[in-house]
Amino acid sequence: MMDARPNSPEARDIRYHMHGYTNARKHQETGPLVIEKGDGVYVEDIAGNRYIEAMAGLWSVAVGFSEKRLVEAATRQMSKLPFYHDFGSKAHSPLIDLAEKLVQMAPVPMSKAYFTNSGSEANDTAIKMIWYRSNALGQPARKKIISRKRGYHGVTIASASLTGLPNNHLSFDLPIANILHTSTPHHWRDAQPGESEEQFSARLADELEKLILAEGPETIAAFIGEPIMGAGGVVVPPAGYWEKIQAVLSKYGILLVADEVICGFGRTGEMFGSQTFGIKPDIMVLSKQISSSYLPISALLINDKVFEPIADESNRIGTFGHGFTGGGHPVAAAVALENIKLIEERDLVGNARKVGAHLQARLRKLASHPLVGEVRGVGLIAAVELVADKATKASWGKPAALGALVNGFLQQNGVISRNMGDAIAFCPPLIITEAQIDVLVDAFERSLDAALPQVHPQG
Ligand SMILES: Cc1ncc(COP(=O)(O)O)c(C=O)c1O
Repeated sequence: MMDARPNSPEARDIRYHMHGYTNARKHQETGPLVIEKGDGVYVEDIAGNRYIEAMAGLWSVAVGFSEKRLVEAATRQMSKLPFYHDFGSKAHSPLIDLAEKLVQMAPVPMSKAYFTNSGSEANDTAIKMIWYRSNALGQPARKKIISRKRGYHGVTIASASLTGLPNNHLSFDLPIANILHTSTPHHWRDAQPGESEEQFSARLADELEKLILAEGPETIAAFIGEPIMGAGGVVVPPAGYWEKIQAVLSKYGILLVADEVICGFGRTGEMFGSQTFGIKPDIMVLSKQISSSYLPISALLINDKVFEPIADESNRIGTFGHGFTGGGHPVAAAVALENIKLIEERDLVGNARKVGAHLQARLRKLASHPLVGEVRGVGLIAAVELVADKATKASWGKPAALGALVNGFLQQNGVISRNMGDAIAFCPPLIITEAQIDVLVDAFERSLDAALPQVHPQG
C-alpha cells in the first residue's frame, strides 16, 4: 500500500525520479513499490511486506539478495585498489584473474575477454568489433547484422536496434541501418497447423537463408541471438533450431554472437545456454549473473577469428579506439570472481537443473487451467502464457491486460514476477529450494484462480 504522506518515499519518488521501463504518466498516480532490503530469495518493501523475488531482480541475482561473501570481496578490493582501468596496456589482478577464468570456462575455444559495464554496452561493443573486423579483412561491405523479432539485446542506439521489440524502437527513430530482423522461433504461437518443431525450425532456417541471399551474403557480418529469448517472453527454441540456423551461418561464413546475458552462469541447468542448445558462438556476451548484479559488469569473449583481424587493424591504426572508463572495474571484477566461485562451490548449476526440473513440472501441471495457453522453460527460467480462449489463443481484450491482472494478484500473494505481454515469467535466484518453488507456484495458482471470474464471468 502506498504511503500518501507528502514527504513519504513514494511521494518523493513521484516528485524527483523518472523510471526505466515505466509508463511515466501512470506512475504519477500509482507511485512506486519501494524495496528496502533483501534476504536470500526474498525482498522486503518499506511497509514490511516480504516477496519471493521470482525474477532474481532483473534475471540476474544468482546467489540471492544477502550474500556476505560478495560484500566482503567488494570491501577487500575497495580498500586495496578502488579503481583502475585497462587502457594503454594497464592491468590489475582482479581483471587478469577474471579474464583467465572466463576464457577457461567458455564451452568453445575462446581467445580473449573484453570488459564493459552492461549488457547493452557489451552488445554495442560486439557490433563495433564486428564492423572493425570486416574492415580489417578488406570486406567493408560486410556490415549487416541479423537479429530476431522479440530478441532482446539492450537499449543503447545500436543494441536497441538489435532488440526486436516495438517498444524499444517506437519514437526513438530506431532501428539504425544495417540491422535486419528474422522470425521468432516460437512454435506454439507461429507454427503452421500440423507443423512439427523440426519442420518449423527448418522453415525458419530456410527463411534465414533466403534473407541472406536477398541481401547478398557478402554484406552479412553476423547473426546474434539469445540461446533462450528472455525479455521477448522466454521463448525456448524448438527442436533442431540452433543446429539448422548454424548450418546456414557457416555456409556463408557469418559470425555467430550468443547473447548469454540471461542464460549464462547456470540459468538453464548448464553453465551456459550455448551448452544446453549446442551453440558454437564466435562471440559470447556475458553480464547479469556474472556478478549476481551486485555491481555492474559485463564481458565479451571472442575467438581467434574475431581477435586476430582486430589486433592487426589496431596495429595498423595505432590503437583499438574503444573502451569505457568503468569497463572491468576492479571492485566489480572482484565481486564477479567471488560470485563465480560461489556458483561453482555450491553447485548452483546443478541446483538450477534439479530445482528447475521441479519448477517446470509444477508449472506444467497448470497447463489445463482455463487461462493457461502455454507453459515453457528450461532449468530455472520459465514462462506461462495466458489466454482468454485456449482454442484460438486469443488474448483478453487488449494484449497484456490479462498478464498485468495476474501479475498484480501475484504481487498481492507475495511474489514479484513480470508479465511480458501476457506471458508471466519466472526466473528466480539459483539458490531457490523446492519448498520455495512450491510457495511460489501455489501463489501463482491462487492468482490465476483470482483472475478467472473477471475473464470468464459466466463461469
Ligand atoms: C539477453 C540480454 N541482452 C542484453 C541485455 C541488456 O543488458 P543491460 O540492461 O545490462 O544493458 C539484457 C537485459 O535484460 C538481456 O536480457
